[in-house]
Amino acid sequence: MLFRKAIVTDIPQLITFRKILLSSEDNSSMDETFSNYFETSLSDKSLVVWVADDDGVVVSTVCFCICRFAPRFDNPTGLVAYMTNVYTIPNYRRQGIVSKLVSEAKEELATLGVRKILLHSSDMAKPMYEKFGFVEGKNYMSINI
Ligand SMILES: CC(C)(COP(=O)(O)OP(=O)(O)OC[C@H]1O[C@@H](n2cnc3c(N)ncnc32)[C@H](O)[C@@H]1OP(=O)(O)O)[C@@H](O)C(=O)NCCC(=O)NCCS
Repeated sequence: MLFRKAIVTDIPQLITFRKILLSSEDNSSMDETFSNYFETSLSDKSLVVWVADDDGVVVSTVCFCICRFAPRFDNPTGLVAYMTNVYTIPNYRRQGIVSKLVSEAKEELATLGVRKILLHSSDMAKPMYEKFGFVEGKNYMSINI
């Protein structure tokens, strides 16, 4: 298994995983939008993506959207990564693949000056994130606008 940064030719598989995670019916109405997003954000480095590649087939991915918030005393760069598109193909689960991808990505994010990773978890994935050291936030509020 090769653990590597995503490249442009991985985009179709990133889109496939995204649609599965969004529980989308198999339609292609958003494919161009997804494709433009991945192409642009990989190129301007606002998105960090690691993939697991089994002999040329991408079987797992983790993505991090890099956001710059106002600097804080505990995060002077203000850089925060929002973790998303975390997916492993069923036959490859429970083999430590996401664990390895997250650990590689964390090293890279740290070198970029990111000091915090945020995420929304599915119920299924919560024990995994807890194992990685993520803790549930208490003061989080949101509104759809
Ligand atoms: C959640 C998911 C990404 C895990 O990927 P994976 O490659 O199997 O993860 P790993 O093998 O690296 O698991 C690392 C650790 O997380 C925990 N873990 C992973 N899947 C788990 C599950 N289904 N239930 C409980 N703990 C789990 C375990 O502690 C595991 O270590 P262990 O197998 O040594 O006990 C994968 O099951 C998946 O794609 N699920 C559907 C999509 C999803 O829920 N994505 C997350 C959206 S927030």
